[in-house]
This record gives sequence, C-alpha cells and structure tokens, in this order.
Amino acid sequence: MSGKPTFYITTPIYYVNDNPHIGHAYTTLACDVMARFMRLDGHDVMFLTGTDEHGQKVEKAAEEAGVDPLTFCDKVSESFRILARDWNFSIDDFIRTTEPRHVTSVQALWRKLVENGEIYLDHYEGWYAVRDEAFYAEDELTAGPDGQKLAPSGAPVEWVKEPSYFFRLSAWQDRLLELYDSQPDFILPDTRRNEVRSFVAGGLRDLSISRTSFSWGIPVPDDPDHIMYVWIDALTNYITAAGYPDEEGAEFKRWWPALHMMGKDIMRFHAVYWPAFLMAAGIEVPKRIYAHGWWTSEGQKISKSVGNVIVPSEIVARYGLDQVRYTLMREVAFGNDGDFSHRGAAQRCNHDLANDYGNLAQRVLSMIAKNCDGQVPAHGDFTTADHGLMDKAYGLLAVSREHLSVQAFHQMLQAIWEVIGDANRYVDDQAPWALKKTDPDRMATVLYVLAEAIRVLATLTQPVMPESSGKMLDQLAIGDDQRAFDSLNAEQALKPGTALPKPQGVFPRYQEEEVEAS
Ligand code: MSP
Repeated sequence: MSGKPTFYITTPIYYVNDNPHIGHAYTTLACDVMARFMRLDGHDVMFLTGTDEHGQKVEKAAEEAGVDPLTFCDKVSESFRILARDWNFSIDDFIRTTEPRHVTSVQALWRKLVENGEIYLDHYEGWYAVRDEAFYAEDELTAGPDGQKLAPSGAPVEWVKEPSYFFRLSAWQDRLLELYDSQPDFILPDTRRNEVRSFVAGGLRDLSISRTSFSWGIPVPDDPDHIMYVWIDALTNYITAAGYPDEEGAEFKRWWPALHMMGKDIMRFHAVYWPAFLMAAGIEVPKRIYAHGWWTSEGQKISKSVGNVIVPSEIVARYGLDQVRYTLMREVAFGNDGDFSHRGAAQRCNHDLANDYGNLAQRVLSMIAKNCDGQVPAHGDFTTADHGLMDKAYGLLAVSREHLSVQAFHQMLQAIWEVIGDANRYVDDQAPWALKKTDPDRMATVLYVLAEAIRVLATLTQPVMPESSGKMLDQLAIGDDQRAFDSLNAEQALKPGTALPKPQGVFPRYQEEEVEAS
C-alpha cells in the first residue's frame, strides 16, 4: 500500500438488455474524468463499472433473443467492456452481478439484514414496472393513450400479487432525513437532494425485496423459491467490489465509502434504498450520491422508437474521441439536462479545440521550432504580464480541485478555457513574431512563458482529453513521471535548452463539407 489517500468511484452497473448508448457513455465518462483527476492529484483510485445482469427485464430480453440468460449476458456485458476500451475509460474493475464474488456478497448482506431483524416475509400486491424494475403506488401512475396505466417514467406497469420478503424501509425514514440534513452534500446537485428529501418526508412504505414469479436472479438464502429483487442485488455490487463480505478486511476499509455517480432516473434507489440497506446492515453509507441530467438529441427525447439513439462509436468516429469527451463535459452544466446537437459538437471541435486550444499550442510550438532551435527557449526576467499568465495558469489547479470536489466539470473547463483565452490574448499583445527582429531575447522569454502555460494547461486537461493532452505534453518533452499535478508549479517549470520534438497539430478542424456530402 502506498500511503496515498484513496478515492473510490462507481458508475451504475448497466442493464444488459440494451447495447451501450450515450447515457451509459456519459455517466462512465464523468467517472473517468473524476478518477483520472484524482489519480493525477495524488490519490490511489478505484474506478468501478460493470453490468447488472439479473431480473425480469434481462430475462425477457434473453427470451426474445432466443438464448439462455447467461449467454445473452456474456455477449452484452462484453459490449460495455468494449465501450470502456474504446472511450479510454481508466476502469480498475468491471463487475458482473452473475459473478460468484457478487452472489456471495449479496447473500451475506441478506443474511445480515435478517439477523438484524430488517427483513420479514409477507405478500406483495401492487404495481410493478419491469422496464424500471420498480414498484409504484397507485397515486404515482398516469393513464396512457389507450387507458393503460403507466409509471412516472412512462413504463407500463403490471399488477403483481405474490409472496414476498420485505425490507423495513419505513423504519429508516427518520434516519434518512437526518442523514440528508446533517450531510448536505450527501446528495448532489441540491435540486435532487430536495426531491429525495420530500419523497422520504412524505413517508416510506416497506420495500418488497423478493419475487417468486421469475427465476433469473440470486436466490434468497434458505428459501430458494424467492429470487432477490434486482435492485438489492444490483446496489450491492458497490460493496462487493470493495471486498464485502470481508468488511473488516484491509481492502474494504481502504476503499469504502464510495462516490456514486448516476443519472437522475435512478436517484431514488441510490439515495433512499441503498443508504437504508447499508445502515440496516451496520455499514457506513456512501460518501456521496451525484445524479446527472439526461441528454436529448437535436432537441428531442432519445428513444429507440423515434430512432434517434446516439451510438457512442458513431459520434467518436465523427468527431474524434477526445473531442466528444470534451463536448459532453463542457456543453452542459453537470447535473442539468442537455441537448446533444451536431452544431454544438462541431462548434466545440472547431471553436474551443481547434481554434482556441489547438491553435495556441500549434502557433507557439512552431515558433519555438523555427526560431529557438527546437529547444525550450532561455528566458530573461519576467514582466508583470509574464507572471500574470503563468500565475493564473498555476492557480488553475486549486480552482479545478474546488470545482471537481462538487463534480462541476463544466466549471473546471470554463476556468481552463479562460486561461487559454488569456494566453491567446498574450500572444497577440506580445507579438513574438515582431520581437524576432527587434528583441530576440524578449521573443524567447515570451515563447518560454507561453510554453510553460501550455504545459500547465495540457497537464490539467489530461483527465478530460487524455490522449490529446498527452500528445501536447510529448511535444513539450514532459516525461511520464512529470505529468501529475504536483508538477504544476514554478519550481518544476520547463527547463531551457530541453530539445523538443517536431510540433504537430493536435486538434484538427471538423470539416463541415464532409458532413453535408455524406
Ligand atoms: N441497472 C441499473 C442501474 C443499477 S446501479 C446499482 C440501470 N441501468 S441502465 O443501463 O438503465 O443505466 C442507465 C444509466 O444511463 C443511468 O445512469 C441513466 O441515467 C443513464 N442514461 C440513460 N439514458 C440517458 C440519457 N438520455 N442521458 C443521460 N443519461 C441517461 O439503471
């Protein structure tokens, strides 16, 4: 063990009834940015993702595909691993709920809850939506176009009547409210916390946590006619991967509690049921539950029937991976809903990346290659303007930390782009091309200051755009061991005389003509 502070972050585990779409890519991307940021900032990180493979929804999807559930899960689960690879997600573990380590963990948690008197056997009678794998009360339902009852999510519901084990959720109402009130950043953003708080304050019913009408799931210990409710199974993945049931073990103590990220639709499961299960089992609650918003596509709700599903591999092929990663993290205030449009993405590629950032690096590095023998230039005394730019760049680390401590990715990027703007204005003001004849020493200093600012910027954009930022750092001859955030200070500034490789553009312009032609 390294003695570094630890950081544990999780994505939801994805249902394998569907191939990966932008929603999956988005949650995992946000976690990847957090994970990379924390690693560069001196933490030992565990970044977990995986697949949620049990339950009626998956059982039905396998049936429709005409294969047995596990064969079906193997195939779709693999497509989420491929997404992680293709999107450069730096995952440390990929969990599948069909793995033995998870079955052991869920059954241990169940036993613990039984031991603590939190589970009892009764009958469930009420509405269930397979698509959401959720129970609903009559007053939550709306009528569909043909009079059919629908869940708030629009999913059809069916009447379920069967024996069921229940979790005493109602008994946890006060302690949940206490948790939300004493730890105001337990649920973020605030709007979500308020929603969850009023849901809980409205009263909680005990939760049905087993079913007898299907078989694809983890059997209840000592009563295998009952299959566990898929959400108790799924949520437990977060502690399985940390080593549960060995909760006294070094691994578990090292990683737990985690920061859980997810979309707003599955907030209730994470912010109400999950902490209640954990408290009932005597396990520490998560560090935070952060729910992000939903994407629409060109202003429309994304749906298979509309045919406007955004396929992760397609947008990457169109705009480039780092361009897409940047667009998703920048385009929308994290936590809010947002719209993915071709116009927006193309603008981000051309305006923010090619013009502002790419062009800054390209201009500066080419001038250095041409006028300074391809070496980090020697600098003279720094002026106020020089210090102004470099200090603002160094200051970005503290600003970025503050924003990411509340997952405000867009604000971190805004702050970085402000400095990119400053650097571009500095180039124009200092006009190094003119200094070439009048004052070559000053030209060298100006180029040095710019190269140093670019080093800081590229170091900080690594979490969002790992590959492109890496290329920029390569061009500044920054070694792999000098790319962490502890290098972001004047003491570790570029060394004059260091040979630099030939500069190459990092962010090509997005060619609109090609799109129109296609
Ligand atoms: N299996 C459960 C999670 C269990 S976690 C213990 C599940 N799986 S899912 O495959 O449906 O997950 C989808 C994730 O993608 C959720 O975080 C959801 O919010 C997100 N998105 C699905 N569509 C989305 C958009 N259009 N936009 C953004 N995210 C959306 O739920």
